[in-house]
Amino acid sequence: MTLRIPAAPYALQVEPDEDAVAEAVAPRLLEALGESRPLGLATGRTMEPVYAALRRRIAGLPGLERQVLLAQWRSFNLDEYVGLGPEHPGSFSATMALALGEPLDLVPGRLQLPDGQADDPEAEAHRYGTAVAAAGGIGLQLLGLGSNGHVGFNEPPCGAQAPCRCLELSDATRLQNAAAFGGDPQAVPPRAITLGTAEILAADRVLLVVTGGAKAEMLRRALLEPPSVEVPASWLQGHPRLTVMADAAAASALPLS
Ligand code: GLP
Repeated sequence: MTLRIPAAPYALQVEPDEDAVAEAVAPRLLEALGESRPLGLATGRTMEPVYAALRRRIAGLPGLERQVLLAQWRSFNLDEYVGLGPEHPGSFSATMALALGEPLDLVPGRLQLPDGQADDPEAEAHRYGTAVAAAGGIGLQLLGLGSNGHVGFNEPPCGAQAPCRCLELSDATRLQNAAAFGGDPQAVPPRAITLGTAEILAADRVLLVVTGGAKAEMLRRALLEPPSVEVPASWLQGHPRLTVMADAAAASALPLS
């Protein structure tokens, strides 16, 4: 269901639950995969049902259409932990291999992420940002919302023009992501490489997906408070083609009409 926040410059779609959100997001990803600019992908628990829905959609395509889509697949993930490679189950490269790479049998290298094991993480961040720019920038950028207001790993405080870089993760983020590391926040790597707000805001379209009541207040701040470095997601308000898809719980603090 499409709802409105009075005078909001973005589209907001609210669905009853996370599965309905995932079903609404998947066709948009499918469409974006057919475009010339690469798709921007995200990780996090929010994306698990989204990628399950995308896999189902792709499995349901006629054979030739499916082959063409998979052959032309080009995506860049937002971020990766410094020090982790695909053999570590907590890495985003392992997460993406499990969610999409292996089940869809994607050609290696088509599903791109920063190399968390690069000897020089700063140089790797520069290389990755340059690769995104060389691809013409992101077409559709899929985003989740961190519970502290981050997008990608752009931790607060963060301005609207931060480039792809290597940075320190906040305690809040390491706690939020501890489940993938045996529940121990100290086991979550302290640093990551992330596309910046600059590359995110340069995408042609941005699709912010938020589910669960725990994110309701942060989503309200991101969409309704004046943009600020304290809530990096709030810079998305300035994007001309932003769509927000939320479940009813995540949208519960919004003044919908
Ligand atoms: C993670 C990722 C983000 C993700 C966010 C939300 O740390 N770096 O890209 O969108 O935090 O995660 P979740 O969906 O698990 O709440």
